[in-house]
Amino acid sequence: MNILVTGAAGYIGSIVTEELIKKGNSVIALDNLEQGHREAVVPEALFVHADLRDSEELEKVFRNYQIEAVVHLAAKALVGESMSYPESYFRTNVVYGINLLDTMLRYGVQKLVFSSTAAIYGNSERIPIKESHTTVPVNPYGDSKLMFERVLDWYADAHGLKFISLRYFNAAGSKDGLGEEHEPETHLIPNILKVALGQHEHVVVFGTDYPTKDGTCIRDYIHVSDIARGHILALKHMERNQANKAYNLGNSRGYSVLEVIETARKVTGASIPVVSHPRRPGDPAVLVASSERAKSELGWEPEKISLEVIIESAWKWQKEHPYGYGGNKSSEKTDQIGLLEVK
Ligand code: UFG
Repeated sequence: MNILVTGAAGYIGSIVTEELIKKGNSVIALDNLEQGHREAVVPEALFVHADLRDSEELEKVFRNYQIEAVVHLAAKALVGESMSYPESYFRTNVVYGINLLDTMLRYGVQKLVFSSTAAIYGNSERIPIKESHTTVPVNPYGDSKLMFERVLDWYADAHGLKFISLRYFNAAGSKDGLGEEHEPETHLIPNILKVALGQHEHVVVFGTDYPTKDGTCIRDYIHVSDIARGHILALKHMERNQANKAYNLGNSRGYSVLEVIETARKVTGASIPVVSHPRRPGDPAVLVASSERAKSELGWEPEKISLEVIIESAWKWQKEHPYGYGGNKSSEKTDQIGLLEVK
């Protein structure tokens, strides 16, 4: 199948792209390289440097390539940043997403897998969180993703769009030389590992007064390769004409910030000093998934469920790439739209 992946040079997008190619698909890998890394896109993919805000560029992509399905990961995805710049989150995650949908429909492309998030739930009333639980996001990031899920519902209703939303919990780990690099880095596991590498003096713990066992936030860490596999299964599910639903992708096991740091100490052998700070605005106390729906309907089963294994995988990448992909974020067009053939 010819699949357009948006956000293909990002952390999760690059690994989804690799997995799709391994399964025999042709991937048109689109990214604006604002946060993504050109080096993270495997050479077998056809890289297109374009931005979803530019309807004309999008139009060219659909005109030039026979796209059969879209996996849409391009987004702004930082909880903390979204509290200060909500406008940027709603514009990118909702408005530019609608550009994509409208272009898809103009070219008769009706299948979409959408990268959604646990952040849509907010402070859920019950743990583990099921897809049917109330969605009351406590940050603009989660709200923007929830809004787009609603947009998808209405587009399915009005225009026959077929979609599956995958609500990722906390992605971590690396795969085949592809790993996590953000600038600035705000995520817990890479920040801990930067301390273990000696690049930072200590880890900041945001909030020690949450209503949890040790006062720090609890998250459900899920290996990025398990998340990537969810996309393959979601596309297969759509082939069977099953669609228009959301699925949690998590391990159903919650770890506090302090537990993650303790596990990283074991994995790395480093002491990893800690400094406590006030809560980071927008953080829910506990996010732990029930992934029963993904298991029973998609046939998805996470394979790398141990936190130690997940952190080992992230540590391997950090050691091999202490400065990430090397800081190469060229803003020049690498491939001009329309000049290359889809492999
Ligand atoms: N944290 C620290 N110190 C740090 C970084 C993070 O204490 O240096 C804490 C945060 O306050 C939070 C927890 O560690 O309590 C996890 O934070 P991350 O930034 O690693 O991840 P988030 O839970 O904020 O968000 C991530 C993704 C979102 C996704 C969400 C789903 O960035 O896109 O997981 O739970 F929606």
